[in-house]
Amino acid sequence: MKLGKLTLSLFTAALIATISFAETKIIKDESIGLRKDNLYTEDKVVSDETKYKTDPAGASTKIERAFENAPPMIPHDVEGMFIITSDNNQCTACHDPAIAASMGATPIPKSHYTSFREAVELSKDGNLQRDGKAVANSSDLKSVVKPLETLSNARFNCSACHAPQSDSANVPKNNFTPEFRSTELNGKSNLIDVIGEGVK
Ligand code: HEC
Ligand code: HEC
Repeated sequence: MKLGKLTLSLFTAALIATISFAETKIIKDESIGLRKDNLYTEDKVVSDETKYKTDPAGASTKIERAFENAPPMIPHDVEGMFIITSDNNQCTACHDPAIAASMGATPIPKSHYTSFREAVELSKDGNLQRDGKAVANSSDLKSVVKPLETLSNARFNCSACHAPQSDSANVPKNNFTPEFRSTELNGKSNLIDVIGEGVK
């Protein structure tokens, strides 16, 4: 009888200990983020060095697309090509479809020579208007697919979407596996042909 009580109280004590241990399980600062350093003493933290590729344009190896119709990463050196301004865009000097083939560069795709928003005017007070009537909310603008003669202003700043890739030893594990509907799509885009998919 006495032994039974003792076993029971030992068991209860063990159970309480297990529960309270589970409740007070401590997550260390070092295990919260991607970097394994204490979050409160940052003075000695040195970030990973940014190492962009230095192969000049024409001698670099293209990087596979991250997913179908993803903006391709820039595989070549971009030293001296930034900042892009309204009268200095060096990217177009090689990627303009009229000259790209002769430069061995991928031509800027048709999607970049297309407007996807209906053309509206600005009223004198700076508001959007359609056929002389104010458009109350810019989200009411219709989606269109209108070919343009020139590069769309929305595409002028190439580096807003295309970036060089840094070679790093500290790359977090990525479990994403892209699925391309055809194997050639991991090396080129066809967005303009499929832009209406799922909408129309
Ligand atoms: C001197 C010519 C030249 C200039 C200037 C240039 N590129 Fe390139 N680019 C190339 C060539 C050639 C390739 C193909 C890879 C190679 O041969 O190096 C390429 C590849 C690319 C790719 C990969 C395309 C793909 O199909 O994967 C992107 C994106 C790109 N460049 C963007 C840019 C951007 C953005 C700029 C401006 C900051 C720029 N390029 C400036 C010549 C150039
Ligand atoms: C708003 C984002 C955005 C901007 C700005 C932009 N691009 Fe792209 N780019 C994309 C996306 C997304 C794709 C892939 C889908 C497509 O073809 O539109 C792409 C594709 C490309 C391709 C690959 C074409 C192919 O046939 O595989 C090249 C080359 C390219 N862009 C060059 C440029 C250059 C040069 C500029 C600047 C003049 C530029 N892009 C500006 C988003 C952008």
